[in-house]
Amino acid sequence: MGEGVLTPAFTREGGVLQCEGVPLPIIAASVGTPTYVYSAASLRQQFERIDAALEGVPHRIHFAMKANGSLGVLRTLRAAGAHVDCVSSGELFRARQAGFTPDEIIVGGVGKRADEIEAALDARVACITAESEAELELIAALARARGVVAPVAIRVNPEVTVHAFHEYVKTGQVGDKFGIPLHRAFEAACYAAGLDGLRLVALQHHIGSLLTELGPYGAAADRLVTLLLRLRAEAPEAARHITTLDLGGGFGVTYGDEPPVDLAGLTTVAHRVHAATGCIIAIEPGRFLVAEAGVLLTRVLYRKDSGGRAIVIADAGMNDLVRPALYNAHHRIEPVMATVGAGQADIVGPVCESGDFLARDRALPDVPPGALLAVHTAGAYGFVMSSNYNARPRAAEVLVDGTRWGVIRTRERHEDLVRGERADPDWSIVA
Ligand code: LLP
Repeated sequence: MGEGVLTPAFTREGGVLQCEGVPLPIIAASVGTPTYVYSAASLRQQFERIDAALEGVPHRIHFAMKANGSLGVLRTLRAAGAHVDCVSSGELFRARQAGFTPDEIIVGGVGKRADEIEAALDARVACITAESEAELELIAALARARGVVAPVAIRVNPEVTVHAFHEYVKTGQVGDKFGIPLHRAFEAACYAAGLDGLRLVALQHHIGSLLTELGPYGAAADRLVTLLLRLRAEAPEAARHITTLDLGGGFGVTYGDEPPVDLAGLTTVAHRVHAATGCIIAIEPGRFLVAEAGVLLTRVLYRKDSGGRAIVIADAGMNDLVRPALYNAHHRIEPVMATVGAGQADIVGPVCESGDFLARDRALPDVPPGALLAVHTAGAYGFVMSSNYNARPRAAEVLVDGTRWGVIRTRERHEDLVRGERADPDWSIVA
């Protein structure tokens, strides 16, 4: 399978950075900054690339909406053919608002409350992924109370060694909090299949995020295959309804100089797993579908010099994009207007923390105050991880499609910051 030429979402026309056919200064002038801008064409292109990688095997692609849950983004991916993976009842609510039908929705999460399981059951989602025996019991009890049979998957911790950019995004190693450890998975599957109120329809793993080399991913998939084949041989009743192997997400994108993810490797794994089991292959990509579609547009407020370092103070901070502060993550940053002169600077935000930076010691032309900057690869784990820290209203979001653009989330206002608060509570008195 060869890939055609990829169309970049962000290009320069006459020195001005634009998203598809829309110059970014037009958006900044109208909506202000900081603002997330997403390319619909990039969302579709990434979906088509990963869909093509699974060509020839029956498959479902569940967008892990934790990476970007904005309704406009969800709607675009659904129209491209995506299903969705939710990890909370809030995400389930959003997915429904965006138009996903129950059969397109799977629900996971390491610590689901009873009300979240009930919401998933009431919505009749396609599958609920359980991460412990206790959770299987709870799902079964809640399903029985409703007179329904819950389709469930078991998340297996395949206990492989994961290579990912940060410890915080590894999820499939010995001792991790996720899933049922490999050595207990067989018993757990038998237990699940024997519980009234459950139908075990899938086995799942997710080993971590921002994978480029898919060796451990393939090894984890093979462990699921071994488990399923053992169930079929030794506990056929437990394996009877298992139609799907869900191989999770984690497909990397290029933020700086990382190699692109090995999509051909995904093709190989998917074919191998399907050939061995006949199962439908499900995947849960988040970052891969949305990261490159987005930039965070921010304006330079001030420049200063501190201890010989050039400091560029932008109007977007760690509350808008936390990845640099939290993971020391790299995001490419460039001026929106072509700018001459090479420089080196720390690009920081306005938040009162020294950890509030977008980039450190970064080559950047000498941008003056007022200049617009584009922080790239911000479409995944950008807005969704933003907060109101320092009582900063959260950013606006804009979707671009060709030469059209529109606001998909208005900038928060100050009134939004105090919604739901009471300076004087309605006191309850303990007798
Ligand atoms: N499935 C499960 C069960 C997951 O836990 C995740 C991500 C995904 C799928 C999607 O992974 P992706 O394809 O996006 O790598 N906040 C971090 C990333 C956390 C990933 C959490 N789980 C970051 O900003 O890099």
